[in-house]
Amino acid sequence: MIILGIESSCDETAAAVVCDGKDVRSTVVASQVAVHHPYGGVVPELASRKHMEAIVPVVQEAITNAGISPENIHGVAVTQGPGLIGSLLVGFSFAKGFALGHGIPWVGVDHLEGHLHSVFLGDNPPPFPFAALLVSGGHTSIYHVKGPLDITLMGQTRDDAAGEAYDKVAKMLGLGYPGGVIIDQMALCGNPKKISFPRPFLDKDKFDFSFSGIKSAVMRHLQIHPLPSDDDKKDIAAGFQAAVVDVLVHKIIHAALSTGCKHLAVVGGVAANQGLRRAVAQEAEQLGLVVHIPAIDLCGDNAAMIAAVGYHRLIAGQQSDLDADVYSRIRPDSLN
Ligand code: KG4
Ligand code: ZN
Repeated sequence: MIILGIESSCDETAAAVVCDGKDVRSTVVASQVAVHHPYGGVVPELASRKHMEAIVPVVQEAITNAGISPENIHGVAVTQGPGLIGSLLVGFSFAKGFALGHGIPWVGVDHLEGHLHSVFLGDNPPPFPFAALLVSGGHTSIYHVKGPLDITLMGQTRDDAAGEAYDKVAKMLGLGYPGGVIIDQMALCGNPKKISFPRPFLDKDKFDFSFSGIKSAVMRHLQIHPLPSDDDKKDIAAGFQAAVVDVLVHKIIHAALSTGCKHLAVVGGVAANQGLRRAVAQEAEQLGLVVHIPAIDLCGDNAAMIAAVGYHRLIAGQQSDLDADVYSRIRPDSLN
């Protein structure tokens, strides 16, 4: 079954063609990073306008790259939320129109569920059940995944998402936006032991997170030691990354052990982090657990992951109606 996936929840316009929820035929991502870079963050109004410009060419490119024509598509899956309302509406309205025009079914998909499905798109998909850490710019959560659509939330951040903390610390260090990948690179060259930032494990046996304390600790450090040199910045990046990675690794390993899962997954934009990928693999290996992390280009926002969820929803007979609407915040009934 060939699904066209569409994603426009934040600052990436993406389309993909995926067969049977796992076989990626094409994936196209038009990033708006250059547009938002001067403002140090995503400007919602600009994001919607850029999505309007990009949606038709991006979808066309995905269909062409897949070597198919629109008539070969069996269904459409599109991100319904959470995200920026104006951005979501562009992809959502386009998907409705595309499906109606071609007389095919369509379904709205939760963005977080999409990230969880990104792990099925590579050549190393986990078997069910598994524990999953979703770590992105907007969300940090742990799930028990028992089937493609049978997902239980185990814990989540009480304040900032890990990616958000990365971006804010990068801003404090004057490294530009988005800063996660820059901190990751700088951390490689710094000494993670020079400055010790707090590890907020909260209750060690629970799966909630808190990252605003680590971020504030970096801010306090910079107030006491202003004007850091490039080498100081590398040590701060390394110390910050070590603290965040320690917490993330502890929680996902503990989630796998407590649910009796031999397999665990790490997904979302921050799953691209080299320090995190290495640390979780090392820790898991020692305990005989198996780690599954998507390829770097499928960690960040993309439409292949949305098409993957859409496949499972459509074969389960779950189509959306034309009066369906987008939502901006985590839906209380989703992924619980
Ligand atoms: O999943 P994503 O593309 O969008 C959301 O759904 O939020 O995640 C974007 C986040 C940003 O905060 C970005 O700084 C972070 O992922 N990120 C990274 C890395 N690459 C992207 N954070 C740490 N290390 C990286 N290598
Ligand atoms: Zn995302």
